[in-house]
Amino acid sequence: MKTLNLVSLKHFVEVKDLTQEEIIALIKRAEFFKKGGSCQKLTQPVYISNLFFEDSSRTHTSFEMAERKLGLTVIPFDAKHSSVNKGETLYDTSLIMDAVGVDIEVIRHSQNEYYQDLIHPKGNLNVGIINAGDGSGQHPSQCMLDMMTIYEKFGSFQDLKVAIIGDITNSRVAKSNMELLNKLGAQVYFAGPEYWYDKKFDKYGKYSQIDEILPQVDVVMLLRVQHERHQGDAHEEKFSANQYHEKYGIGEKRYKKLKKGAIIMHPGPINHDVELSNKLVEAPKSMFYKQMQNGVFMRMAMIEAVIRGRKLGGIR
Ligand code: NCD
Repeated sequence: MKTLNLVSLKHFVEVKDLTQEEIIALIKRAEFFKKGGSCQKLTQPVYISNLFFEDSSRTHTSFEMAERKLGLTVIPFDAKHSSVNKGETLYDTSLIMDAVGVDIEVIRHSQNEYYQDLIHPKGNLNVGIINAGDGSGQHPSQCMLDMMTIYEKFGSFQDLKVAIIGDITNSRVAKSNMELLNKLGAQVYFAGPEYWYDKKFDKYGKYSQIDEILPQVDVVMLLRVQHERHQGDAHEEKFSANQYHEKYGIGEKRYKKLKKGAIIMHPGPINHDVELSNKLVEAPKSMFYKQMQNGVFMRMAMIEAVIRGRKLGGIR
């Protein structure tokens, strides 16, 4: 049997430095896990902790499932009842984790690039960091599971037409996905409210009108309207849920206009009847359920890459 190249990384915090080969190798590894494959047996325990300072249902559960499937020892951490409430910094929390013997931290935090201090530390800190979402910055694991879901359906990214629609400025999913899709040769289009679009995204794709682009694309990537990141944003009040749905959402009418083989993706949580009609969440073209399933296997591949990169668990 042909052995795949396995990816090794010290941390997994951004997607921009991944090579095409690494992306495909991670997807293949995740597919191997999905088919029931298991990782090399760990001969020493690997300790991992999930530090979620922002709310999460699927990412947190999915990481924990991936960790347990890999045979890691999961050290519980509850941000709401931690010393963070007494003013402890993220660096200090990480130092505690390191000092007590945690090997890898999976972190979600509202501060963009919170990880810079942790991956370039000046002191004793030496713990692997996997980014489970930083503010409106990056969301590598959602991005990688999205790439896996697209690859499973189309087998390639070259010239695939992908529309990323919605609150692009505030979405970390959009940032990671536009970077990787572009790198992998897909043609990226953006649509949605213009004031949640920034010119700086032009280097990854083309801002277009939703009804012009929809009948042409292979993949429709919907984004949640990020209400929690709109404090002080005058546009938040611009339209009601109904108006958003009419202008930028996918309902029955737009669904019917999609190409035969096209798919719809949404990272969740969905604002029902806003980005996507409630009736279409589990429609045939919707990958919503598959994305959540794939999330476990992709996160196994990502965690394994960090285990290898740090030579943990007796793996060489
Ligand atoms: C995303 C996130 O947290 O960025 N959710 C997720 O992890 N699946 C998307 C979102 O919250 O809109």
